Parts: sequence; C-alpha cells; structure tokens
Amino acid sequence: MTDPTLGELTVGVEGLALLRTLHSGDSGARAERLTEIRDVLGRADLGSPLGSEVDVDAGYVQWSRSYDGPLRLFAVESAAVRPLLEDRPPGTVLDAACGTGRWSEYLAGRGHTVVGVDRSPAMLDLARTKVPGGRFDEGRLDALPLDDASVDAAVCALAMVHVPDLRPVFAELARVVRPGGRVVVSDVHPFLVTLGWQAQFPGDDGRAYIRLHAHLMSDYAGAALAAGFAVRGIEEPLLTAEAAATPTATVVPAANAAAYVGLPAVVVWEFERM
Ligand SMILES: C[S@@+](CC[C@H](N)C(=O)[O-])C[C@H]1O[C@@H](n2cnc3c(N)ncnc32)[C@H](O)[C@@H]1O
Repeated sequence: MTDPTLGELTVGVEGLALLRTLHSGDSGARAERLTEIRDVLGRADLGSPLGSEVDVDAGYVQWSRSYDGPLRLFAVESAAVRPLLEDRPPGTVLDAACGTGRWSEYLAGRGHTVVGVDRSPAMLDLARTKVPGGRFDEGRLDALPLDDASVDAAVCALAMVHVPDLRPVFAELARVVRPGGRVVVSDVHPFLVTLGWQAQFPGDDGRAYIRLHAHLMSDYAGAALAAGFAVRGIEEPLLTAEAAATPTATVVPAANAAAYVGLPAVVVWEFERM
C-alpha cells in the first residue's frame, strides 16, 4: 500500500469545501472550487507523500521532540477545558495519558498533587521536567497503575482517540476516581477523524502520522454511563482558522478554510463518578 499524497488530500479538501458551499448562495466560490480542482489534478508536485504511518509507541518517541510546539488544537481545547479545572479544590488529580504534562503543569500550578500516567517513556520524561513535584508512571489507560478510589479527580486530554475501545478506559477511570469525583475528557472530534484527520507530526524521516480512532458521542456516553459516571456537561468547540492549519492550508488556503473552519474541533466532557 502506498502512502497517501498531498494531491489526494487536496482534491478531498476541495470536494469538502465545495459540498459546504453548495447551498451558500455563493456561486463564485463554487466556480472557484471547480477551477482549483482542475488545476490541482494537473499538478505533479502534489503527488508528494503526506507522511508515513507509525504506531503509537514509535510515534510518540519522535513526536515528543516537537509536541509542545504547540499543537494546532491546543488553543481551542484549552479554552473549553480550563474553566472545568480552574475552580477545583486542591486534591490529588490523575492526568491520564498525560503526555508531556501540559495539564499536569497547569494542575500543579493550582495547588493539586498530580499523578501522571502515560504509555510513552519519552513523553513522561518531559512531563517530569515540567512538574518536578509530580509523580509520573508508565501505564495504560485500560490498566492504570493506581489503587481503587485513590484520586479526587482526573483529566484525560486528547488521548482516547488513540484507543479502539473506550469501555475498558472508562472502567479504569471509574475504579481509581473516588465517588463524587469529576473527570474531564477532551478529544479530537469524531467529525474530523471521520474526515481523515490523523495525528500528524514531523517524524524522523519527514512527515509522519499516528492513526486515530473515531468515537461517536454515544460511544463516550455509553462507556461512561456503564462504568458508573453521570454526564455533567459536554461542549464541542469549533475549528478556528488557526486550528484548521492542515497541510493543504498553504496549497489551497481558501478551500482549506471553507472545508474546515466551523466544523467541531474537539469534544470536551465533564463526568461525575457516582
Ligand atoms: C496527543 S497526546 C496528549 C497528551 C496530553 N494529555 C495533552 O493533552 O497534551 C496523547 C498521549 O496519549 C498517550 N497514549 C496513547 N494511548 C495510550 C494508552 N493506551 N495508555 C496510556 N497512554 C496512551 C500517548 O503516549 C501520548 O502521550
């Protein structure tokens, strides 16, 4: 199987932009999309590979070097997550799949005792540097290295999209969070994953990506309710122009913006352990 190309992505983005423009009453924009599609189909330089797929473990060894770059979705995600974390009374908080400690650092700064868990030793090393007072352990979302009811709250940011099945993940969160504790979950919105968004980053040999799993809202809610959580809130902030900076943003900027800006970017859940 050959890697997808920038040309294929560009034609797809033009098509999505055209679909979203069809009933806008803007016939000029529709004509522009068709003209650009014809042009793109004839451009040999767009045949360049979009990147090669790597698995989660190899991927985060490479991505850890640039991860805090920051990522294009951070601003949209953190504007929705921060208000859910900022007024929490100080306690012990699990940062599940903590990565380089983006939320661990924030929580420690607000007086919490932080326990970070992640499967990637490379990401954990960076988290330890950022939060010297935190405890950071290697572990899996579906087998957390924590005792039952040992934390007051948890956050799991932009990580469930890496696991194929949410049920064992919510079962583990329900096991380690004490009754009454809150769990904040953010994730890449399934709308984008279904449209082909992957976790893209500069790899060791050029562009690389880790494949993402799309979870429907009913997958999150079903897994959480079955594990013993109640839903306390859900938000779906939309893609801004900055957050929609995909590889086609420089090739066909108008089509890229018309295709993506305004689509749901992330989902942010707040659950309570019953
Ligand atoms: C996109 S990063 C998010 C990191 C951090 N939560 C943040 O918001 O910046 C995803 C993280 O999930 C971790 N991860 C992926 N699958 C995991 C699993 N099954 N168990 C534990 N960590 C996992 C990766 O190693 C990576 O550090």
